[in-house]
Amino acid sequence: MRIVSGIQPTGNLHLGNYLGAIRNWVRMQDEVAATGGQCYFFLADLHAISMPHDPAELKANTREMAAALLACGVDPAKSVLFNQAQVPAHAELQWLLNGTARMGWLNRMTQFKDKSGKNREGASVALFTYPVLQAADVLLYQATHVPVGEDQKQHLELARDIAQKFNNDFGPVQPDGTQTPVFTLPEPFIPPEAARIMSFRDGTAKMSKSDPSEMSRINLSDDPDMVMKKVKKAKSDAEPLPSDPADLAERPEAKNLVAIFGAMTGRSVEDVLGEFGGEGFGKFKPALGEILVEALRPISARFVELKQDTPELDRLLATGAARARDAAAKTLAATYEALGL
Ligand code: ADP
Ligand code: NA
Repeated sequence: MRIVSGIQPTGNLHLGNYLGAIRNWVRMQDEVAATGGQCYFFLADLHAISMPHDPAELKANTREMAAALLACGVDPAKSVLFNQAQVPAHAELQWLLNGTARMGWLNRMTQFKDKSGKNREGASVALFTYPVLQAADVLLYQATHVPVGEDQKQHLELARDIAQKFNNDFGPVQPDGTQTPVFTLPEPFIPPEAARIMSFRDGTAKMSKSDPSEMSRINLSDDPDMVMKKVKKAKSDAEPLPSDPADLAERPEAKNLVAIFGAMTGRSVEDVLGEFGGEGFGKFKPALGEILVEALRPISARFVELKQDTPELDRLLATGAARARDAAAKTLAATYEALGL
């Protein structure tokens, strides 16, 4: 298995990012490494310029996301971790694939329609050709599998269409008449359902960095006292916890806190309620706080340390990029050759 997965560099990382995204990468890495496969994880900084952005913020967010991934357990000894901008082969292969991708294919991409909104004429060309860069991202490493959520399925289909057409149009013909494919067709795999973590101030809103209330989320940089304080102040209700998960349906804040307890401990909601059913939040919140403090203590310590150690972060990213460039070189050379370049 060769897995390629990218993540948008964003800042102010929180518990939602950890349980909903980052932790899945760490699990994937460990499973793939155990079977002798290889994960390529990249920070999608080249993708980020498809939308209006601030250069200094992009650089800071790229470093911050790298620091978070490393702090949470992405291990450079097991996975190749890098940012796209340091591996020119991504942009090069995108251009080479632009000759194969069809306008009609890109015109059908629903994400472009969603992201460009009513201002289609004002959208960047990069936003339109973004899926071709995504195709380059995975084809470059001959990915066998790409983890995709529902919203990315269409882009992976496009990557397969591009690879198939390229192989068909340009795959070198052998003396016996058979064609050698230049690209592996990547298979999608749907990662295990990720937790969706809600705000501590409003159980019907997603926990998000854009919420102006600091108390609405646990940041990965929060120290243990802050974590405990935020859990204790989290919005809840006056009822004791039920024993039946169905009775949480109309209690979004309680449901969220129980779900977080389950996600952090690997226990089912039934199991958590089996222990805490009948108890009030005066008992449940300190228990949840302890779980979070213990799990996040090493992560936040390493995260804060790495964020401050820019030279070390840059060194780790440069090492990852060098490995990625090596891995990409053969495919890139074969692509130029196949095209007569
Ligand atoms: P934010 O919503 O804070 O702006 P991003 O949109 O930058 O976060 O999300 C980065 C990654 O983290 C995405 O994969 C997203 O699905 C995941 N994520 C963000 N917030 C949550 C959340 N509250 N629960 C689960 N996953 C989340
Ligand atoms: Na967002």
